[in-house]
Amino acid sequence: MTDTTMTIADTAVELQNELLLKALRLETLDRPPVWMMRQAGRYLPEYMALRRKYDFFTRVQTPELACEITLQPIDIIGVDAAILFSDILVVPQAMGLEVNMEEGRGPWLPSPVQDASDLKRLHAEEAAEKLSYVYDAIRLTRRALNGRVPLIGFAGAPFTLLCYMVDGGGSKTFSKTMAFCETFPDVAQQLLRSITSVTIDYLIAQAHAGADVIQVFDSWSGLLDEQAYSQLSHPWLAMIAEAVAPHAPVILFPKGSNHALPLLSQTQGVSAIGIDWTLDPAQARQLTGGRVALQGNFNPQWLHHSPAQIRQEVTAMIDAFGTRGYIANLGHGITPDVPVDHARAFVNAVKEYSHAEK
Ligand code: CP3
Repeated sequence: MTDTTMTIADTAVELQNELLLKALRLETLDRPPVWMMRQAGRYLPEYMALRRKYDFFTRVQTPELACEITLQPIDIIGVDAAILFSDILVVPQAMGLEVNMEEGRGPWLPSPVQDASDLKRLHAEEAAEKLSYVYDAIRLTRRALNGRVPLIGFAGAPFTLLCYMVDGGGSKTFSKTMAFCETFPDVAQQLLRSITSVTIDYLIAQAHAGADVIQVFDSWSGLLDEQAYSQLSHPWLAMIAEAVAPHAPVILFPKGSNHALPLLSQTQGVSAIGIDWTLDPAQARQLTGGRVALQGNFNPQWLHHSPAQIRQEVTAMIDAFGTRGYIANLGHGITPDVPVDHARAFVNAVKEYSHAEK
């Protein structure tokens, strides 16, 4: 079968759960769709079993394994959307940077970008083509889902990827990155431009392979003040949203950048914005003026509360956001120490919302 026939065959399967797509179209629903950032991950014993057998990039690069891990939270927790098991760092890797994942410690890039000369080591052309294993995983997962729930594809935002590419790993302050952007503003712009062009091709290819929705994770944009944000983050997100939106609805997750909500909600091609738990839902609605759907923002730490308490907190959260253009989610990823029952309590509380006392 050629790629084209597979795409046509896949789209022919009718989606049985359209809640996420309806919320993205700003429809009012009886209850919101629910999924959890990092829902395919270490809190699931079934994930841990595969993690013992295969290393991180083997899991990411083997479509059958990525597909199996993507389906786990659908079968075990019952979320309304699947998000492909992959990582934002596959893009720098495809551009030619070595990326290691140290289990339990996080990513480590031994030869980070330090100055203009390092840009020569990076290859933007063909990087999106090298990620064909991701498109294969999407096609396989799409077939395995058989229309049960929509599939979310994703990428890291250019600024967040730059943070890892320059700092060489995770950090609380990304101080090497901040110094790099100040010392070499032109090199930073050049690097962001090249990441953006790869990301656009990559996300459009994900949509063509069958991703129903695209999310862009700007996990570190909270490091930037408004002025820096307007140079290092927003222009690139705007280019991506505009280019990708004709192919699939786009959700942005600008973690920690509450000041950017008015601007992002007026950016062409943005269907939804994910917010973290530091912002009050009413304030988020006010800042975004009903122009986009909102996603979030349950404090991931609250998943340690009792299931009864989680249910109450979820009900209050949905009351505060309202059921028009709203996607229930966490304010950041679920942590490995959360009991599976508590994750299920969160999801069930959303699903039972219409029956909840109001
Ligand atoms: O959400 C999902 O379930 C889909 C899969 C997914 C992963 N990473 C798998 C993963 C997604 C959407 C990501 C995105 C990602 N990766 C982000 C943005 C989201 C966020 O949390 O802010 C970032 C910053 C990364 C980079 C990254 N990958 C880090 C910092 C780490 C180590 C920290 C951690 O959570 O372990 C990873 C590893 C990683 N990516 C794991 C998973 C399931 C854990 C790997 C393991 O030890 O098994």
